[in-house]
Parts: sequence; C-alpha cells; structure tokens
Amino acid sequence: MPDHSTYPGLTSYRLLGRSGLRVSPLCLGTMTFGTEWGWGADEQTNRDIMDHYLDAGGNFFDTADRYTGGTSEEMIGRYLAERGKRHEVVVATKFTFSHNPADPNSGGNGRKHIMDAVEGSLRRLQTDYIDLYWLHCWDLVTPVEEVMQTLDRLVTAGKIRYIGLSDTPAWYLSRAQTLAEWHGWAKVAALQLEYSLVERNIELEHVPAALELGMGITPWSPLASGLLTGKYSRTEKPEDSRLKVTEESPNPVFHKLIDRNFDITDVVLAVAKELGHSPAQVALNWVTNRPGITSTIIGARKLSQLEDNLGALSFSLPIEMEAKLNAVSEPARPFPWMFFTPPIQGAIHGDHGVPSRP
Ligand SMILES: NC(=O)c1ccc[n+]([C@@H]2O[C@H](COP(=O)([O-])OP(=O)(O)OC[C@H]3O[C@@H](n4cnc5c(N)ncnc54)[C@H](OP(=O)(O)O)[C@@H]3O)[C@@H](O)[C@H]2O)c1
Repeated sequence: MPDHSTYPGLTSYRLLGRSGLRVSPLCLGTMTFGTEWGWGADEQTNRDIMDHYLDAGGNFFDTADRYTGGTSEEMIGRYLAERGKRHEVVVATKFTFSHNPADPNSGGNGRKHIMDAVEGSLRRLQTDYIDLYWLHCWDLVTPVEEVMQTLDRLVTAGKIRYIGLSDTPAWYLSRAQTLAEWHGWAKVAALQLEYSLVERNIELEHVPAALELGMGITPWSPLASGLLTGKYSRTEKPEDSRLKVTEESPNPVFHKLIDRNFDITDVVLAVAKELGHSPAQVALNWVTNRPGITSTIIGARKLSQLEDNLGALSFSLPIEMEAKLNAVSEPARPFPWMFFTPPIQGAIHGDHGVPSRP
C-alpha cells in the first residue's frame, strides 16, 4: 500500500489559479471508469485505482456527467460514500453534453440545462456539493453572461464551490473572466484543455490568457490517449489499447497515430532511455512543469499504469533534454504571431528592447 512518501511531488499541493483551493499536481481522470465505451475498466479495477491514488496523497478527481453515460460519476459516488472520504477529495465534474437527443434543452450551456445537469451530478456522486464545476465544451450559442451568472448563483446556493471552463476559445474565457470581475461574480478558477507534447496549440492564446487572468490550467490527454507511452509503432497497435479500439472513431481526439506525432514520440523514447524513466513519466513531467499548469489530469485503465504515471514528478528534466522535446514538438505560429517576434518588437521598443516586468 502506498503512503505519502511513495511518489515524490504528488503531495506538493498547488493552488488552483487565483483561488484558495489546493490540489495535487496530478489529478485522477476517470473517463475510463466503466466499460460502456469499449476502452475503460470495471468497477473493482477503478476502486483499486482510487485507493492507490488517495493512499498516495492525491486529492483531485476529474469526471463528467456524460462519461460512460453517467457510470463514472456513479462509481465515484459509491466509492466515496463507502470509504467516507468525500470531504478529503476535490471532486470536479462537468455539464454540456446532451442527455436526450430528442430534447434540445437537455444539452448545451443554457441556464435550463445547467440547473438540471447539476442536480443529476449531485445525485450520481451522492454528495450535496461539487468542488469544481466545469463547462465541458463551448456550445457556440449561449451568451457568456447567461453561463457565468448561472454558475455564480450555483456557488451562492452552495451546490458548487469553484467554476472551470473546458474546451472553449481563448476569447470566450477572457470575456467570461472579465465579466465575472466587473459584476463581482465568482471567477473562473481553472481551464481544462488538451495539452501534451503532440498538442501544444494552447500555448498561443490560452496559456497567456490564463496567466494574465489568474486561471490554473489542468491539461487533459497528456499522453495523447497513450501514444506517448511508446506502445504504438508506425505499423502496429497493441490489441489491448485505446487507439486500437477507437481506430474507426470519427472523434478527432483519437486521430493521434500520424507521422508528426511518431517523430515526437521517438524523442520522448530517447530521452526516457537516457534518463532511466518511462516514456509516460517523461511526457507527464514535461507537461506538468510547463508555464501556467496547475494539475495534469492523468488517465489509467490499469493499476500498473497509474503506478507508472504517479512516478512522473520524482525527477527534473535536464535543460538540454527539455530543449530537444520542445524543438521537435514546437507548434506552428500563424498570424499575428510573427508580429510578436524580435524583428518587429525591436522596431517597437527601439534600442532598449522589450522591458521585462519585475
Ligand atoms: N475536457 C475534456 O474535453 C476532456 C477530454 C479528454 C479527457 N479528459 C479528462 O482527462 C483525463 C485523462 O485523459 P486521457 O485518458 O485521454 O489521458 P491520456 O494519459 O492521454 O491517456 C490515458 C490512456 O493511455 C493509456 N495509458 C495511460 N498510462 C499508461 C502507461 N503508463 N502505460 C501504457 N499505457 C498507458 C491507457 O489506455 P489503454 O491502456 O487503453 O491504451 C489510458 O487509459 C480523462 O480521464 C478525463 O478526466 C477531459
């Protein structure tokens, strides 16, 4: 049984954005809780995973109302009630996705759906409050004011404690935070976004916005659905693996097995070999120590995977190896980014260069 000294770094709790909430730097993702989607785990495996994570000092669970059709929330609710651990765990869940395709208000980010969705999550989680309530995905239509005011009222009602935004454009989250500041509403504590060595696009807009506006970032799919563990090759997919099961899926999240991503994985494997750590640990260490990151949401379908992943913070990446990882995974910087580079900024700031803030 692990204790708080088993995984160095896991109990170095971090403040979530500009809030007073403390979370472990590795959050337990639970999208794999339940076998409904064909690539998850059964209840006993998930209980072993939760036991291990909590005994080691982790304190942060991430779920969503629609994961495995509600099974993920139900498994967490049963487990926390039986173990009497509810108050020691920061429980985060999400709303947005439809519960009934025939009913246009059973999904989306309108007030009617949010008010219904929160009651469903509270019931499945067997709790009377949610620590962190995420908008799961921008719905393209609901005004930001409606979303933020509804969430603020849920905080006042004691049903939720903190607010987070997942999978939104950067302009949207900037407007949400600015409105909250001006109206005196509860602010956005955190962002949940895809971020890994193969998906670094949030570095362009979202990371600078989060740093400026006081929101912590919690990356999802930090191993690119398992690709960055090195278990896939350009020609083969292991039978018992997510990207094998999802190869026909239309969901772009699973379209990871492309040449560019294998080039990046090759460097991860080389760095891992040189350091004597697993590729998963190298990839998780890299993302967790990037600017703006508070807590990386790890996924594990087996206890052995969790054990591997929780070891990710036990070492520092040497600068020259970090530089190799950065170079091979550098994202494209489209317009207007060329205007923020030295030739043009030099023409703005003159001989003194760009001033740095103290
Ligand atoms: N907000 C959003 O839109 C959003 C989207 C996606 C995820 N999330 C959250 O983020 C969490 C993590 O996302 P993710 O599951 O995609 O993370 P991930 O780390 O990219 O992928 C996890 C999967 O990789 C494989 N794996 C993990 N560790 C391994 C290891 N050490 N060795 C070999 N294989 C390993 C396992 O799949 P197999 O064994 O089946 O190959 C595991 O289920 C989710 O649980 C969820 O809470 C949020």
